[in-house]
Amino acid sequence: MAQETVLQVDNLKRYFDVSKPWLSRVLEGGGRQVVQAVDGVSFEISKGETFSLVGESGCGKSTVARLIVGLYPPTDGSIVFEGVSLSNPAERARHPEKQARMQMIFQDPYASLNPRWRVGDIIAEPIRFRKLLEGGAVKARVGELLEQVGLSARDAEKYPHEFSGGQRQRISIARALAGRPDFLVCDEPTSALDVSVQAQILNLMKELQASLNLTYLFISHNLAVVSHVSTKVGVMYLGRLVEWAETRTLFNRPKHPYTRMLLDAIPDLDMSGRARTPVAGEVPSPINPPSGCTFHTRCPFATERCRAEVPQALSVDGQNVACHAVEEGRLPEWRGLAA
Ligand SMILES: Nc1ncnc2c1ncn2[C@@H]1O[C@H](COP(=O)(O)OP(=O)(O)OP(=O)(O)O)[C@@H](O)[C@H]1O
Ligand code: SF4
Ligand SMILES: [Mg+2]
Repeated sequence: MAQETVLQVDNLKRYFDVSKPWLSRVLEGGGRQVVQAVDGVSFEISKGETFSLVGESGCGKSTVARLIVGLYPPTDGSIVFEGVSLSNPAERARHPEKQARMQMIFQDPYASLNPRWRVGDIIAEPIRFRKLLEGGAVKARVGELLEQVGLSARDAEKYPHEFSGGQRQRISIARALAGRPDFLVCDEPTSALDVSVQAQILNLMKELQASLNLTYLFISHNLAVVSHVSTKVGVMYLGRLVEWAETRTLFNRPKHPYTRMLLDAIPDLDMSGRARTPVAGEVPSPINPPSGCTFHTRCPFATERCRAEVPQALSVDGQNVACHAVEEGRLPEWRGLAA
């Protein structure tokens, strides 16, 4: 049975103009500077799935998240959510109900909760704003949401500073769920938390996904976390998706040299004695990205063609990969994580 597509992203781009002001450029010299934060990303997410984006800092993960929830308009490309084109500002404005059906959870549960509001009011705000319920029903719903995320209905009376980091992230999740969304964009939701608390929050997110039939776009730089929570994984490098596949396929037989480099660097969690190879080299500036395949400055398999020609994504053995060496069949076999 075909799965229902919830989100379809096509050739999404977002450039930021970070030039000095015009007068400074005239007086001091220097041209326009544009950050190509997201440069042609395409993927789709089916109902009930978790699609994860991974990649080093600055590769454009958060910008993709912000484009999808409408915090930035795209420079180009399309975002279709439940059949409505949200990349078109007029369409987005015409469908506030679609906007409400997607919510975002941020990395920092300290910054995302208003410290002067009681937790009950923080969680009730989307319910009141959208007039979903009134009077005593709002309080009852807030209590229900707090219990759903493993807190107590009585916690509604407290302020955010009275909670630990993990508890605050539970409050953020309760607030995100208040408007009854079916799609959550989670940008590094556990990165600011202790490892033991991370596992609790990830488990809670999985339970909520199953009980409420939620779909997630999950963003993390932590591949171990991603391997636990995702249905599919997309690997980003300098604003582009270089490989995406079902989670097991990507971890068992990664094809792109960058994916392999990231996997080689995962700490040896199961103490198998596997040598860890740190990620080599620096990410180039997205203001002036390398020509051709932007990974060529760090890739051990780069050739003249790689320096000249942007590789297009091809579907190979059920995974999508943008690499000339894969297309030319000249990459060595992946020796596996246990090697
Ligand atoms: N509002 C902005 N104005 C100018 N440049 C921006 C803006 N937002 C992001 N960028 C730039 O776009 C690129 C992608 O940033 P983004 O925050 O999406 O990366 P990320 O993958 O989320 O990184 P991290 O893992 O550190 O959170 C970076 O070079 C960043 O400096
Ligand atoms: S296209 Fe070339 S440079 Fe880019 S990842 Fe493949 S082999 Fe390396
Ligand atoms: Mg980010």
